[in-house]
Amino acid sequence: MPTAAAHAHAPAAPLSAHRSGPLSGRVRPPGDKSVSHRALIFGLLAIGETKVEGLLEGEDVLRTAQACRQLGAKILRHADGRWSVWGAGLGSLLQPTETLDFGNAGTGSRLMMGVVAGHPILARFDGDASLRKRPMKRILDPLALQGAQVLEQAEGGRLPLVLQGSSEPLPVEYKTPVASAQIKSAVLLCGLNSPGQTTVIEAEASRDHTEKMLAHFGAKVVSAPHGPHGRKIALEGRPEMIARDVRVPADPSSAAFPLVAALIVEGSDIVIEGVMINPLRSGLLTTLQEMGADVAFENRREEGGEEVADIRARSSHLAGVDVPAARAPSMIDEYPILAVAASFAQGETRMRGLSELRVKESDRLEAVAAGLKANGVDCEIVDDDLIVRGGRVAGGGMVETHLDHRIAMSFLVMGLAAEKNVTVDDETMIATSFPAFRPLMERLGARFS
Ligand code: S3P
Repeated sequence: MPTAAAHAHAPAAPLSAHRSGPLSGRVRPPGDKSVSHRALIFGLLAIGETKVEGLLEGEDVLRTAQACRQLGAKILRHADGRWSVWGAGLGSLLQPTETLDFGNAGTGSRLMMGVVAGHPILARFDGDASLRKRPMKRILDPLALQGAQVLEQAEGGRLPLVLQGSSEPLPVEYKTPVASAQIKSAVLLCGLNSPGQTTVIEAEASRDHTEKMLAHFGAKVVSAPHGPHGRKIALEGRPEMIARDVRVPADPSSAAFPLVAALIVEGSDIVIEGVMINPLRSGLLTTLQEMGADVAFENRREEGGEEVADIRARSSHLAGVDVPAARAPSMIDEYPILAVAASFAQGETRMRGLSELRVKESDRLEAVAAGLKANGVDCEIVDDDLIVRGGRVAGGGMVETHLDHRIAMSFLVMGLAAEKNVTVDDETMIATSFPAFRPLMERLGARFS
């Protein structure tokens, strides 16, 4: 079980990416991280056996599995990606005897705060150095309105913290202050055990996996448009939560790395299979198409309640574009890799409204800009916008990853097409979301050392 000792990471392992020949072949990225966390959490809350196929076996998700066990679930791994969860059931979670240690997992920790807040249990939450820096007040504020109490917390509402949940969470109507599926999900998961109705209003629609899974497991949830870009989600509390099978589609946020690699490495032609193309996750694809990317959707079909497609990507001459702030929620995790694509594009790319990037696994706005500059790319941050003037990428730089998996993968992709090698200071964090990143990329022809 992860304990306080787990805060010590494996020693940092630098990795370099080399200019590579054309990438080719077919690959399937790992299961979606958002859906994987939720599959386990909903399994915990349901009665009976929830069978999961295609679960992401990254460190973040394994932390959530461990926390689910601590709260009373029985969880078994049968084979690669095939897991079963026997839930404790809504309203019947166990009081954990030890700290719930989420490592690097923001989603796992925040969603589980919602779960704990809606049950009469006391739990201590902790995480690694990166997670300890991330704001939790945005989650704790609504949970307090619902009846939970924060008994201890580090300065500024940060981990480690101790949360006392409520036996009867109050029905609330909550307007999220920022577009965040994590805030929305925490409020809904707490409200699941409320005797009344819980409503969340978001001005900009964020990913809807929680709503979809609530319905899949038998809850009464209605999601309706609200304002020009928002949603209003109403959930009836205390449904009978029935165990369901969950098939996890491939993660578009992980697919983004081989996808952009194929676009920027000359002569490439690859297919990325089974990628979820949920419109609330597809901002990167829209943006790359506007930049002139040669991407095609083949074999569109439904898998596990989500539309998926095989994405064919061929090397492309990209052009800079203006990316509107309203698109941010649908591509929030993809800005680092978009910035890499923009570095190889002719002209200026302006990515607007990136304030939320400052509170991810690292301050991604600063980390991306520093990595671009270290590799000779002309860029600047103006307020919350990132401006990249692309064309030539000298490479040759050392990139500080700040315990951030997506910074590591993005700059390794840059190195596949830059003039000189690009080195990241630590590749170990990649295992949080994409443990097989290196062998998958090598199968396509990428060169690392
Ligand atoms: C996630 C929501 C997003 C995203 C994260 C996963 C989720 O965070 O960045 O990687 O699964 O709900 P925010 O809710 O903070 O935007």
